[in-house]
Amino acid sequence: MDGVIFVIFGASGDLAVRKLIPAIYELYQGKYLPENFAVLGVSRSKYTDAAFRKKVFYDSQFIKLSAKEKKAQKDFADRLSYTAIQTAEKKDYAKIKKQLAKMDKQFGIGGNYIFYLSTPPFLYTTIPACLAAHGLNEEKDGWRRLVVEKPFGYDLETAIALNRDLQQHFDEDQIYRIDHYLGKETVQNLLVTRFSNGIFEPLWNRNYIEHVQITNAENLTVGSRGGYYDKSGALRDMFQNHLMQIVAHVAMEPPISADAKAIRDEKLKLLKSIRPIKEEDVSKQVVRGQYTSSKIDGQIVNGYRQEEGVPDTSKTETYAAIKFFIDNWRWADVPFYVRTGKGLPTKVTEVVITFKDPPHALFRKEEMVYNDNNQLIIRIQPNEGLLLKFGMKVPGAGFEVKDVGMDFQYADLTNAHVPAAYERLLLDVIKGDATLYARGDSVEEAWRFVEPILSAWKNNPKIKVYGYPVGTWGPAVSSKLIESEDVTWRNPVQELTTGDDFSELS
Ligand code: BG6
Repeated sequence: MDGVIFVIFGASGDLAVRKLIPAIYELYQGKYLPENFAVLGVSRSKYTDAAFRKKVFYDSQFIKLSAKEKKAQKDFADRLSYTAIQTAEKKDYAKIKKQLAKMDKQFGIGGNYIFYLSTPPFLYTTIPACLAAHGLNEEKDGWRRLVVEKPFGYDLETAIALNRDLQQHFDEDQIYRIDHYLGKETVQNLLVTRFSNGIFEPLWNRNYIEHVQITNAENLTVGSRGGYYDKSGALRDMFQNHLMQIVAHVAMEPPISADAKAIRDEKLKLLKSIRPIKEEDVSKQVVRGQYTSSKIDGQIVNGYRQEEGVPDTSKTETYAAIKFFIDNWRWADVPFYVRTGKGLPTKVTEVVITFKDPPHALFRKEEMVYNDNNQLIIRIQPNEGLLLKFGMKVPGAGFEVKDVGMDFQYADLTNAHVPAAYERLLLDVIKGDATLYARGDSVEEAWRFVEPILSAWKNNPKIKVYGYPVGTWGPAVSSKLIESEDVTWRNPVQELTTGDDFSELS
């Protein structure tokens, strides 16, 4: 594998400390990294190399080793260095260039650099331009890659502008837009389940599937992130990126091969086939909610408007449920229902495929216990796995049918280490494999779908924001979105509170 220097902008920030350095360490520990590698932290705060190593490695609570064990990992710590710059100052990048040249020589890197932007988004255009001004985007003596974290824009217009700015200095195939959901094993497994088995794909279409649900629930509330979240909301924070990517994995056509281009082409095609929701239909197809205060286990939990940094009159959605259709041969008329929310009863992400009833109900009687459709539940997190629900005969007289489940859990595999999303994604960028990164055109396409919803919410004050008490499954009206006769949202756990104040918020 080629040697590489991993340059992290925003190296003293939360993401670097909590996710990036621990992921790099795990990869190092598992011997996945090239022998010649090093990390250069860059940010405004002043640290010496030693102070940086202490902060992100020796004192890090996110790398779970004892002090003695960490001491023994001196080889790893010695590969971490730090350079302080004013990030928006073009001339300061000369310091980075000099430091890179020094480290390149010391570790025998061969000129390959990954620039990881773990910074506030307003720097996403500044940093690439400054790197380019010093020739650090050029691939004359080694490769150069740029990794960008979401948000990729704030709406369609800013997303297009961001792509244009990035592509002005780096070619699209040098740009890696990270979506950590794509690094999750089970999101990748959606493709394997569908395309490496002969039994699912023949049923994976409008002839057999009644509807598709995707639930992304978090029990955490917004807490101290109110300042950021209030400008974002669930649609921008979760739906436009992570959930649209999951939709693409569930619904795309089989790619012609497993390479990055083939898979990303199919995902783009799928995103283009989603029928846009007209602004006037937003109140029919989308439910927006905001959590309100409730009492869980005797404790009062804050409502969204009581969170730090959130205005009392905020209409920002902490919950969204969306119904949409995909206009192609496979999915015509099959409704997709996707919901995401904070302050729900548990943390879970799952895809539920509900199959149609058999055409002729031979065993269906009034008194029968079983009246559920077949469902395939793909659990993305936690307890990653698959569950297939179907009807079985209850032993004894007659033909009583009971709903039973056949399940597989990742935890049952002998080699059950499910790598953290960042580990997989960082290794892929080192290898130059962009399959699990979002391509610029599909990011824009996802914004194109979300845009009319955002714009209707902004321009039409009559569209309701429904309150839901923390610990419930979101606004009660969201169950009305689902058209099915006998199936509604699958709620994997019960509500945590009996609060029933689902009133409309003004
Ligand atoms: C992030 C969002 O992208 O994903 C957060 O900004 C959210 O608001 C997080 O909590 C959820 O990620 P995960 O991996 O914990 O499901």
